[in-house]
Amino acid sequence: MQNYSSIKESLQLLEKQVNEQLKEVQTLEILKELYQNTLGKKGKITEILKHLKDLSPEEKKEIGMLANELKDILSQSFKEKQKELEQKQIQEKLSKEFFDILRPLRKRVGRIHPLSQIQYEVEDIFINMGFQIMDGPEVELDEYNFGKLNFTDDHPARDMQDTFWTEEGFLLRTHTSSVQVRAMEILKPPFKIIVPGRVFRYEETDASHENTFYQLEGMMVDKNVSTAHLIYIMKTFLSTFFEKDVTVRLRPGYFPFVEPGFELDIQCLICAGKGCQVCKYSGWVELLPCGLIHPNVLKAGNIDPEKWTGFAFGMGLSRLVMMRHSIEDIRHFLSGNIRFLEQF
Ligand code: DAH
Repeated sequence: MQNYSSIKESLQLLEKQVNEQLKEVQTLEILKELYQNTLGKKGKITEILKHLKDLSPEEKKEIGMLANELKDILSQSFKEKQKELEQKQIQEKLSKEFFDILRPLRKRVGRIHPLSQIQYEVEDIFINMGFQIMDGPEVELDEYNFGKLNFTDDHPARDMQDTFWTEEGFLLRTHTSSVQVRAMEILKPPFKIIVPGRVFRYEETDASHENTFYQLEGMMVDKNVSTAHLIYIMKTFLSTFFEKDVTVRLRPGYFPFVEPGFELDIQCLICAGKGCQVCKYSGWVELLPCGLIHPNVLKAGNIDPEKWTGFAFGMGLSRLVMMRHSIEDIRHFLSGNIRFLEQF
C-alpha cells in the first residue's frame, strides 16, 4: 500500500528519470516510445496514480495537482526534444545532399529540332551569298497571300478546302510567298531576301502531307535579273547544301505570281541520274518551284517592272530535311515524339 509521500516521491523520481532519459534519446522513434511509457495511457504516470485510491480526498487533490503539473512539464520537455531531433534530421539530410551546379550533364538534354538545324544551315548559305532574312505574319490578309500575288478571284487555291480562315476574315498563310509583296513595300530594290517560316493548309494528313509545314521563300530583285541568275543561285545553294556538284534542270510550271514559272529538278544524288528507287527510276528529283516575278506582283509592291526584274523560289524546308535524313513521314516533325527527336 502506498501513502501520500511515497506517491509524491515516485512522481518526483519519475521526473528526474525521464529528464535523464530524454538527454540520451537520439531518434524520434525512441522518443515516441519513451513518451508512451511515460505519458501514455498505460504509462508510468497512470501507473503511479492508480494508488490514489488509498489516499484521503485532500491528499488526492494535492497529488492530482502535482501529477498535472508534472504532465505539463514533461509534455513541454518532450516537445522540445522532438523539435531538436527533427532539426537534427533535416541537417543530416541536407549535409548528405550535394548539388554541383557546374557539373557537366552526363547526358545531353534538349536539342535543336531537325527542322531548325537545317533552317539555320540554309540561312547561313544564303547569307553568304548576300541575302537578308525576313519574316512575316502567319495570320495574314487575303491580299498578301493571294490578291497581290496575281491570284484571280476564282483561283482554286483560294478554295475553302485549302485555306484556314479565321472568323474575322483573316487566313493562315498557305505559303511564304505571302511575304513577297510585304518585302517589296519595305525594301528598296535592289535586294535579295529569304523568308523561312511556317505555313498552313487545310488538308488531310498522310506521310507526305501535314496541315502545318515549313517553307523557305527566296526572292531577288535587281536590274536585268534573268533565269540564268536564278539557276546560278540555286545551283550554288544546292551544291553547298548537299556538299557535291548538283545538276539541275527546269521544267515549265504554272504559278500566278511568276512568269515564266518553273519546276526545278535536281539530278538524283543517290544514283547520279542512272535511275533508282528514290527517283522512281527517272534520274531526277523534283525539288522546288520558281520563276521570274510577274510584273503585276512587282507593281503591287510599288516596284516599276520596266526598271526592275526579279526571281523567286519556294523551297519546301520540311521536304529538304526529309531528304537529308531519309525521314519517311512528315508527321514526325510535329509529333513531339522524343524518340524521333533524340536521333538528331
Ligand atoms: N508558294 C508556292 C507554293 O507554296 C511555291 C512557289 C512557287 C514559290 C513558285 C515561289 C515561286 O516563289 O516562284 O506552292
